[in-house]
Amino acid sequence: MRSLSSNGGMDPLPKIQRALKVRGPREVELHETCPLPALEDDEILVRVRCVAINPVDAKVLDMAPRVGATAGCEFAGDVVKMGPSVKNDQLKAGVAVFGCVWGNHPNRPDNGAFAEFVAVAGDLVYLLPPHLSYQQGASLGVALPTVGMAVYYLWPLRLPYTGPGRSPIARGETRQTSGEAEETRELEATTTLADRMEGAGGHVGVRHLTRPSSPPSALGTPRKPGTSRYVLVYGGSTVCGAMALQMIRKSGLVPVCTCSARNFALVKALGAQEAFDYHSPTCGDDIRRHTADTLAYALDCITDLASMRICYTAMGRDGGKYMGLEPVPLRAHTRRDIKPNYILVYTMFGKEVTSPRPFGRPARPKDRVFAERWYRGTQTLVDIPGEIHPHPLDQGSDGLHGVIKGLDRMRKGDVSGVKLVYEL
Ligand SMILES: NC(=O)c1ccc[n+]([C@@H]2O[C@H](COP(=O)([O-])OP(=O)(O)OC[C@H]3O[C@@H](n4cnc5c(N)ncnc54)[C@H](OP(=O)(O)O)[C@@H]3O)[C@@H](O)[C@H]2O)c1
Repeated sequence: MRSLSSNGGMDPLPKIQRALKVRGPREVELHETCPLPALEDDEILVRVRCVAINPVDAKVLDMAPRVGATAGCEFAGDVVKMGPSVKNDQLKAGVAVFGCVWGNHPNRPDNGAFAEFVAVAGDLVYLLPPHLSYQQGASLGVALPTVGMAVYYLWPLRLPYTGPGRSPIARGETRQTSGEAEETRELEATTTLADRMEGAGGHVGVRHLTRPSSPPSALGTPRKPGTSRYVLVYGGSTVCGAMALQMIRKSGLVPVCTCSARNFALVKALGAQEAFDYHSPTCGDDIRRHTADTLAYALDCITDLASMRICYTAMGRDGGKYMGLEPVPLRAHTRRDIKPNYILVYTMFGKEVTSPRPFGRPARPKDRVFAERWYRGTQTLVDIPGEIHPHPLDQGSDGLHGVIKGLDRMRKGDVSGVKLVYEL
């Protein structure tokens, strides 16, 4: 740790802060006199304005609580201090940002999102553009890098942006046919998520979008492995799934997804070509039929026995790649032609993940290199109004006290198609 540069003439920082600390399994409590996080040289200090609750916050409390650590991984707020080696010259005191941190950190108990101040690497944070609120920013903090690491780093598919973070075309990339390009343009011509949703059917309806009458690959047409344009997002109505749908569309591919029927309108408005109810016993077969037995990529945003079985059933005859957002239940790995993997977003920090198995990972500097590029690249999307659609918000009250109730809601599974956010 080093001494820090000034905070640009803003109010002096307090010596102590309020933070939600892990008390034990399933429990956090509000502490009033916590130290502010110590900054590493490449980090900024952010005064938190809004936090979002991620299922990860509840799960780590249940499975690997670090007593005394600050909880929380998603935030939005204002920069109040800069470390001496922050490279991003757009960052300065007073600038609004949002992002992801590793809450419940085993070795860094003073840092987490559920606090008045949070420290985050200057290369791994988004600038919050004026068209997004702090609440919307907080809701995007984890989904953006998670989709980046899963879909565009570990697989990887063709990047969804052009410009600064763009790398050469990735393996397995296929070019869009003119019909598919036309469909993509039609979808993207519709500007806001609200525009795309009207009040009919499910809890929201959707304006009718022109789509091709048949899937891009005609039924029965043999295809080379890896050339299908379809990507399955299991759990399209999760925050991560919703982000994946949008990004996969921007990559020129064709996402299909599962979710409850009440969320069909939401996922279709975000770009899903078709949605399938995972409660149906024929869900996997239906997807396989729809994708003409060619599906080669499945992102599973739920990753339990049932979800993995459906993904494996849906996968095409040549097999492919399956990515879980949770440790993969090996019992469901029933096909040798499918390569399963599991992503943990915290490896993007390039440091060892010192958690118990199956979460522990060695330091992976290459993950950090990709992540920095991903943040730069997707910042260009975040900056354009209408390019990234945040999830519908469910705004709770009562600040950090409210977050404790929100964690309980999340644990009970009382969250569908919305993101829980709390202003501080
Ligand atoms: N590995 C990582 O680094 C990482 C990072 C971020 C998140 N995650 C994990 O990724 C998952 C998704 O996170 P998120 O924030 O995107 O989720 P979320 O938005 O909180 O997910 C809520 C949605 O999950 C769906 N759902 C709940 N239980 C389900 C089940 N048994 N089967 C199918 N769908 C179910 C519901 O969809 P319907 O209402 O439509 O049924 C609900 O809308 C979580 O497990 C989280 O822990 C992992």
